[in-house]
Amino acid sequence: MTVSGPMAVEEHRNWEDVDYTSLLNGQAFPPDFMWGVATASHQIEGGNTNNWTRFEPRSKSGQESGDACDHWNRKDADLELIQDLNVTHYRFSLEWSRIEPEMGTWNEDAIEWYSELVDQLLEKGIQPMVTLHHFTNPLWWEDMGAFENESNIVYWIRFCSKMFEVLRDRVEWWCTINEPAVYASMGYVLGEFPPGERSFKKTRKVSLNLMRAHARCYRTLKSMEHGDSRKIGLVKNINLFDPYRRWNPLHRFQANVLDKMFNRCWIDGLKTGRFKPPSALRSISIDGLKGSSDFIGVNYYTHLLATPFMPTKVEIDPLIRPWEERTDFRYPMYAEGLKRAFEMVSPLNLPIIVTENGVADNDDDMRPEHVRRHLHITAEAIQHGHDIRGFFHWSLMDNFEWAEGYEQCFGLYHVDFETQQRTLRESGKLYANIAQSHRMPQVVILAGGLGTRLGEMTKHQPKSLVEVGGKPILSHILEWVKRQGCYRALVLTGHHGDQFDGFHFPGIELTFVKEPEQLGTGGALWNARDHLEDEFILLWGDDYHPIDYTPLVHNHREASSRLTMTVTTEHDEMNLQHEAGRLIHYAKTGDIPKGFNGYEAGTSVVNKSVVMDFGKEGTWSWEKTVYPALSTEIHVHLDSTKFWDMGTPERLEQLENFFNESGL
Ligand code: GAL
Repeated sequence: MTVSGPMAVEEHRNWEDVDYTSLLNGQAFPPDFMWGVATASHQIEGGNTNNWTRFEPRSKSGQESGDACDHWNRKDADLELIQDLNVTHYRFSLEWSRIEPEMGTWNEDAIEWYSELVDQLLEKGIQPMVTLHHFTNPLWWEDMGAFENESNIVYWIRFCSKMFEVLRDRVEWWCTINEPAVYASMGYVLGEFPPGERSFKKTRKVSLNLMRAHARCYRTLKSMEHGDSRKIGLVKNINLFDPYRRWNPLHRFQANVLDKMFNRCWIDGLKTGRFKPPSALRSISIDGLKGSSDFIGVNYYTHLLATPFMPTKVEIDPLIRPWEERTDFRYPMYAEGLKRAFEMVSPLNLPIIVTENGVADNDDDMRPEHVRRHLHITAEAIQHGHDIRGFFHWSLMDNFEWAEGYEQCFGLYHVDFETQQRTLRESGKLYANIAQSHRMPQVVILAGGLGTRLGEMTKHQPKSLVEVGGKPILSHILEWVKRQGCYRALVLTGHHGDQFDGFHFPGIELTFVKEPEQLGTGGALWNARDHLEDEFILLWGDDYHPIDYTPLVHNHREASSRLTMTVTTEHDEMNLQHEAGRLIHYAKTGDIPKGFNGYEAGTSVVNKSVVMDFGKEGTWSWEKTVYPALSTEIHVHLDSTKFWDMGTPERLEQLENFFNESGL
């Protein structure tokens, strides 16, 4: 069904007919998709003193944030909650009022808290995304007029630079300002956010300064060390406005005006570098604004139906279509609008990240379907060519919902604010399952092999720990693994496992499994079976094989294969025969029969069921046992990317040269 007219089509689907199977079998999203949850400092930390705490007694709900989720004191336990959702990324914000409680006074403990949070996330293989401004200001800055005065921006930039210096070596993803249009309209038009004003003049000024601040922040951080390689972007809330009656020109006019003020002028500003603030008559050129985003963050919640008499107070229920369902927030669930949000930002030609999407639904009877619908729309948009890199669910847990206080519950975890107990909701389990079925599989590295031809060096040291280009080959392998979006690794260390003690690799959750004696490749896998995920990528710890994992994993999943091996056709020896995408014949050693046309290059995707079928105690070889037995069933993924082994001193030198030349 569509409600159509001259404006963007307001599509409505019959969701009963939609097939969600691909969401759960890992085939709806690319394997390197970013799966996340999002929070903001003031909504969860508790114990803050900022513009919000001062405003709360006179806010709509009158509720005070108080202890919120007491996250400041429960960080470690909350990190476990994040990890249990199987997400690869976590978006959170820095509370400026904690970090710089007085102008120019830095609270090192607070800075350390965030720094530790980042370290802990990386230990767990969860990649941090930091938001630099999420609605809150320190009181000293609020008293100076915050974004009302252009001259105040310099203080915020100083804070951003300071925190960038602290975290830039570990944090890749940075959001400058969260929802500038919400900050401006809620604070200065509707008066529901601090400072609670209703002034178009101030709205214009604040909007302009928000855009200036974003542009300056982007340019400043980009010019700093590591700035080049960090991804920095604006987070834009897309609130769709549709005319309540399509045929009514007044409704259309109203929808159009609101759309321009709330959405279009901001997007156009980012695209052209000229910004026309809401209700302003002229556009103004902002230095450095054009192109000041490496990605565009999209926060999407709903659409609103416009008439000239729309309530400007949130207490009155917004209009909805008769078939739409209201969320606890009273606005409707309208997943089709997410597609329109993608279309709206696509002229920016930037990678898109859904930095927030979720629903207020305390009893969780709507959220599972909300998650499915919005992910379905996102997957479909990717298939239609939109460059969407990730999806962050709002929110990790119920929290302080600004003017609404604690009444609106957005969490995948329910929070009992009396006891601070968190309970995973059904929707949370669903989200965790969808993320798990899609994310890059765990990597399993056979890292225990000793070098027989490398001389003294590796008689007692596993080859994977031999240093090349200044660090162990294992670190080079993990670097590649991480770039491919794999954030969990199981390292099978052989019977010299103690030598891996103290080995770290931030950004990947590492598990080491040692062997009591030399077990061979098959024995090592069987020995570690309790740590294997249902699907894993198997690698050799002494080979560097920089292939693109996305097509490999995609092929494996699409073919419902149990074992997919990478085969190169450009190698001086051949050890297998393949035909029509299947392995026909494998021979590791001995005479190479005629017709052999490929060489196993080392990176394969394996379902744990194969290990369970062939598993046995003692020493055995994976490749010599499984490959011959499963030939014709094994899928072959052709990729002739050169792989590097380091079995002999000459090859080690070649690999060293490769690293030096490629800068990897
Ligand atoms: C967004 C905001 C979040 C959260 C969410 C739910 O606008 O960025 O902080 O409150 O809405 O309403």
